[in-house]
Amino acid sequence: MGGCYRLKPMESANIAENSTGLRGLRAGDLLASSRFQAAKKELLAAIGDFQKKVSSVQPASTEASVQARYKEVLDRFQTQRGRELYFPYLTTGLGNGPFVELYDGSVKFDMISGIGFNLFGHAHPALMEETLDGLSSDIMQGNLQPGIEATRLMDLLTQQASKKSGLKTGWFSTCGTMANEVALKIIRQKHFPASKIFAFKDCFAGRSTAMQEITDNPKYREGQPIFGEVHYLSFYSKELGVKGSLDRVTAEMNSVCERYPGKMAAVMIELVQGEGGFNFAPREWYVGLFENAKKHGLAIWADEIQTFARTGELFAFEKFDLGNYIDVATVAKALQASAVLFRPEYNPRAGLIAGTFTGSITALRSGRRVLEMLTQDGYLGENGKIQKLSRVFESKLRSLQERKKISEVRVIGSMIAFQPGQGTMDQVKALLFKLYERGVVAFYCGHDPYLVRMLPPFGVMTEDQVHQVCSIVEECL
Ligand SMILES: Cc1ncc(COP(=O)(O)O)c(C=O)c1O
Repeated sequence: MGGCYRLKPMESANIAENSTGLRGLRAGDLLASSRFQAAKKELLAAIGDFQKKVSSVQPASTEASVQARYKEVLDRFQTQRGRELYFPYLTTGLGNGPFVELYDGSVKFDMISGIGFNLFGHAHPALMEETLDGLSSDIMQGNLQPGIEATRLMDLLTQQASKKSGLKTGWFSTCGTMANEVALKIIRQKHFPASKIFAFKDCFAGRSTAMQEITDNPKYREGQPIFGEVHYLSFYSKELGVKGSLDRVTAEMNSVCERYPGKMAAVMIELVQGEGGFNFAPREWYVGLFENAKKHGLAIWADEIQTFARTGELFAFEKFDLGNYIDVATVAKALQASAVLFRPEYNPRAGLIAGTFTGSITALRSGRRVLEMLTQDGYLGENGKIQKLSRVFESKLRSLQERKKISEVRVIGSMIAFQPGQGTMDQVKALLFKLYERGVVAFYCGHDPYLVRMLPPFGVMTEDQVHQVCSIVEECL
């Protein structure tokens, strides 16, 4: 497979889009004008020329002035934020697909994509184009004064979500955590007076006061109050298999529902646990779980913040064919914006949800473009580009596993995790820093055992680049 991206000729792509949405309006005339188009073409060409210089792993600059400036900026930033960065990672803003230029002059393979948002890598030409088109407008858009960009993104998002689910309505938010907050509020309003939530062991939901309680990690809520609103269920276990895992989770759910009659409102689930270690189950386990949840009248809320566009389908509920069960879903990261999607009957009464921002115009435009590329350019499905690269990555990792270099491999779409040795934090951290030195940026997930986590930008990567990354992994092991 060659480069995954095909830049649509500007004349047909954006002018067509502008002229349908903005025909007869001054803004449309501006974007379609020959001066604007020529300037845009020139800017994209200039960016493209410099991107070519960032197309392989390169060491840090040896120039003393660059090194000194890098250290000074990094030290100041770390002092200001009161703690060190995990990696001494600062970007310059220049990138090219999976490659990113850092402030020390090095170029690295970015295999974590900002923990998932850069599915199309760095400085993708189509998204640069959206950024330039957004220049003629304001910086931010809001709930009181939305613009055409917000409507286009929501149109496309609800159109896609409702193909295989009842999620026909949606609301923008400002990040994944806030989308989850909105989801929680609309569920509680609909299910009032039930307010309690089932979540899963090892789950992650964000870091607001409510989300830190849902998140199953005591370290993330040290010194914080617990309101007793969350009950944890056991996720699928390979050792127990479908029946054993289902019996266990059903018994747990039934017991809590009997103990708190009329109090349980929803079950919140990451269909593929992200921070928890890329855990996922066979479809039958989810079906059994959701059938039981429906018997108890619970809302089913899928947190798709990390899984959105990552499993090889737009939504993980499509990947597992579970759309009919989902009442509420939250999305963010790869979308470039964040939103909660819900069945129309969950529409909250006026006043419950609002907020100043819906997102930056560049983000809303880029989100729409990401959706267009994903759904129109062959990225999704079993034969889509994401799955093709996923299979290549997985076969390389399986070969390392067969040769006993790693002990566990978990892969679904562009969510890639593997465990070195016993998966202690020390082993994983040592490997992550070795990888970083050798030019591959990754992160960790799981809780005892820990795994190396990658969220690679499969939207732009080539098969050859996957091989290059895997070779570096093997060397570092
Ligand atoms: C599954 C899941 N939910 C919620 C969040 C929180 O999203 P954000 O960091 O955008 O607030 C994350 C972020 O990593 C996530 O992975």
